[in-house]
Amino acid sequence: MEFKRNILITGGAGFIGSHVVRLFVNKYPEYRIVNLDKLTYAGNLANLKDIEQAPNYVFVRADICDFETVCGIFEKYDIDGVIHLAAESHVDRSIKDPFTFARTNVLGTLSMLQAAKHHWDGKWEGKRFYHISTDEVYGALELTHPEGIHSDISAHEVYGDEFFRETTRYSPHSPYSASKASSDHFVRAFHDTYGMPTIVTNCSNNYGPYQFPEKLIPLFINNIRHRKPLPVYGKGENVRDWLYVEDHARAIDLIFHEGKVAETYNIGGFNEWKNIDLIKVIIKTVDRILGNPEGYSDSLITYVTDRAGHDLRYAIDATKLHRELGWSPSLQFEEGIDKTVRWYLDNQAWMDNITSGEYEKYYEDMYGNR
Ligand code: NAD
Ligand code: DAU
Repeated sequence: MEFKRNILITGGAGFIGSHVVRLFVNKYPEYRIVNLDKLTYAGNLANLKDIEQAPNYVFVRADICDFETVCGIFEKYDIDGVIHLAAESHVDRSIKDPFTFARTNVLGTLSMLQAAKHHWDGKWEGKRFYHISTDEVYGALELTHPEGIHSDISAHEVYGDEFFRETTRYSPHSPYSASKASSDHFVRAFHDTYGMPTIVTNCSNNYGPYQFPEKLIPLFINNIRHRKPLPVYGKGENVRDWLYVEDHARAIDLIFHEGKVAETYNIGGFNEWKNIDLIKVIIKTVDRILGNPEGYSDSLITYVTDRAGHDLRYAIDATKLHRELGWSPSLQFEEGIDKTVRWYLDNQAWMDNITSGEYEKYYEDMYGNR
């Protein structure tokens, strides 16, 4: 079958990548979607069960750092567009093991760029290399509005300087954000040096189905279900800006097709929450859905030693994306959290497979040992 486009999505078996792959496979039957993923601890093919038989979907297990193999994939599928999500993504792991983050996030991205450059060979017309990055590269903001600034785009017009903008200077603090910052610079360097048509987006915290339960929201939902402690780092005063993952995937689709080459777009939820307030919302939602009395799980909150170098506040100004491409988040936070909690509670087998290590066996049967 002839496809109109051949798009390589890396990290498609992970949290955000699986939503992007699903959206593209379903929305664009005329495109071939090649999902390249190493299936690290964070990659889970069960995230894509519903589309794995689609005629326009191909899964390739490979390491982005393996340059020869990546070149072979470009060649075999005649790739003309890349959406690069594969990365080590968890800040706590980066504090323990920074080398793995430098390898995958920096060298892996460079390997992807070199393979694209090699395959496209200066014929940039119709090509696109789209790199998915994070707001963490900008560093940390002050806590100027202790209650947080929720769901109102106009606040960004008023308090503009108190947010990360596309022009904000990079100031990464964790090994994770330092590795992502470095990869962003490499992507821009390939545009500036070779003329590669690149785009970079920097997004805030995502939440929703299929997130690995090392991250705050799925971890806490699962712990409440199992009556386990909820480890709040420090005083729980750090602020994050939360975006429903399908809204991020929609933004990626829009920017991949309509974004301007060499531009950067910030993507965010206009939705800041202090960790402790968010945690209370999660507890309340889980208790309500499980039919527990109000306040039943509050005692699970356990304050623990703070994360080293814990950035105080992240908050994205996404008005450029709103103004230029008309994107805005579609889900209100209350609705998104309700949907998310219900998804994890309804998909206990998915969670249990991860926490019991079952899913690793499934891969071993299909693809051999990792
Ligand atoms: P994730 O950890 O859930 O998934 C990462 C995926 O990449 C996994 O499927 C893993 O197997 C794969 N992978 C890792 N190393 C690889 C390698 N060497 N070769 C091939 N595949 C490899 O991550 P996520 O939360 O879905 O994040 C995806 C991307 O979005 C990352 O680049 C991350 O920096 C960025 N991002 C994440 C968030 C967030 O809130 N989760 C926010 C902004 C940006
Ligand atoms: O901002 C975007 C980033 O969001 C992405 O680039 C990262 O890939 C993604 O992991 C996420 O990073 P965070 O460190 O913000 O997410 P995490 O879920 O690990 O933590 C959210 C907040 O909750 C953070 O302030 C740390 C705190 N926390 C986290 C965990 C896991 C706790 O208090 N206790 C916990 O057990």
